[in-house]
Amino acid sequence: MKATVTSSVAATGRTASHRTASRSAQLSIVIPTYNEAQTLPLLLQRIEAAVVGKNIPTEIWVMDDRSPDGTADVARRCATRVPVRVVERDGPWGLAAAVAEGFRYATGEFVLVMDADLQHPPEAIPALVRAMHEGADFVIGSRYTQGGSVRRFGFLRKLNSWGATWLARPLIPPGVHDPMSGFFCLRRSSLENADIRAVGFKIGLELLVKTRAQRVVEVPITFGARHAGVSKLGAREQFRYLRHLLGLYAWRFPAAGQFARFCAVGACGMTLDLGLMAALMSGGVQFAAARAWSVLAAMTLNFFLNRRYTFPDRRGPVASQFLRFTGACATGLVVNWGLSSALYAAFPARRGLYPLMCAAGIAAGTFINFFFSRSYAFADAAARPGSKGAQDGADGAGVKPDQRKREGDQLI
Ligand code: GDD
Ligand code: MN
Repeated sequence: MKATVTSSVAATGRTASHRTASRSAQLSIVIPTYNEAQTLPLLLQRIEAAVVGKNIPTEIWVMDDRSPDGTADVARRCATRVPVRVVERDGPWGLAAAVAEGFRYATGEFVLVMDADLQHPPEAIPALVRAMHEGADFVIGSRYTQGGSVRRFGFLRKLNSWGATWLARPLIPPGVHDPMSGFFCLRRSSLENADIRAVGFKIGLELLVKTRAQRVVEVPITFGARHAGVSKLGAREQFRYLRHLLGLYAWRFPAAGQFARFCAVGACGMTLDLGLMAALMSGGVQFAAARAWSVLAAMTLNFFLNRRYTFPDRRGPVASQFLRFTGACATGLVVNWGLSSALYAAFPARRGLYPLMCAAGIAAGTFINFFFSRSYAFADAAARPGSKGAQDGADGAGVKPDQRKREGDQLI
């Protein structure tokens, strides 16, 4: 990354180096910009008016993606009593990536993120900072908490925003109304060990989840109408959001993600089992022998797929893992057979429902199989720090962090 950093407080146009920004700022405001030349001057003035004299030493980082409308020049020309640093980025492009890079420059105890288009009222900044001082982990400038509101959101955008929030609900502490807000503040130290990825627009949600924020406070704001320029939140961003959500779910509920993969692998095994069965039978092989071969083949396939995709961070010696996996499968099979037979015996009047009884057996057997696969067959390398498995990580699946640094999806 070879971004150009300039400052409007030090001699204009001179390149300021990393972390030499201001004398001990308490608050670092990070503003991602793309074609916001029209609104930025007023925004900076309003920020100045909001923080100067309030005992909130502040620095501002304008993170610009080489906007063709000259946003960076405009920002540099604004003379305010708050130091403004302008970073002209060279990619990876995108809102979240810009914000993530801004965090690396920030020096304040708190970092605050807001949009440049005046949709987030700078006058609310002191209230956000106050809530941080009062012990919050994460403060949101919220449209949907009591007292907050949205100007000129069409029906579709409202529905969209509501749906997006609803999908994220299990990921966030209960009672948070506006996890999608792009106006938020958190302690810089809480970023230190967080496994943060810069994907798409919802960097606030990402941070809320990955910093495991517990004390979340919402400060009501009125999300203004855009005064100029256009929103960059298009269909592509919405699609990215769904991908982002999947990643967050897998991170937040690793066992559930594993279970989903385990079931998908199971479905592959079943397909192979049935296919091989049909082939062997039509080749004249006896039923019992055909059954044995296809079950064995399916189990072997499942073993390698699970080893590769479901538990990539838990690779131990193949042979012993395979033996233990057959144990897990056998246990699942016994539970499957036992439960369905027990149901069949217990409800003599309902024998017509035997497929349901079998389904109950299959579900229970799958759970048991998963449980033993996870805790017994693939229990190996999970807790060994520094082992190959442990480094691979569940979501990276063998990709080194630096190889993951692609546009729109990198680690902070
Ligand atoms: N550097 C950079 N690069 N900045 C970007 C980019 C980019 O690719 N895309 C957008 N921005 C900047 C904009 O210039 C603006 O300052 C801010 O990010 C938000 O972009 P908008 O295009 O105005 O987004 P929005 O108003 O539709 O969405 C906002 O509200 C949502 C809540 O409904 C954002 O704050 C979202 O994060 C938020 O979820
Ligand atoms: Mn906007």
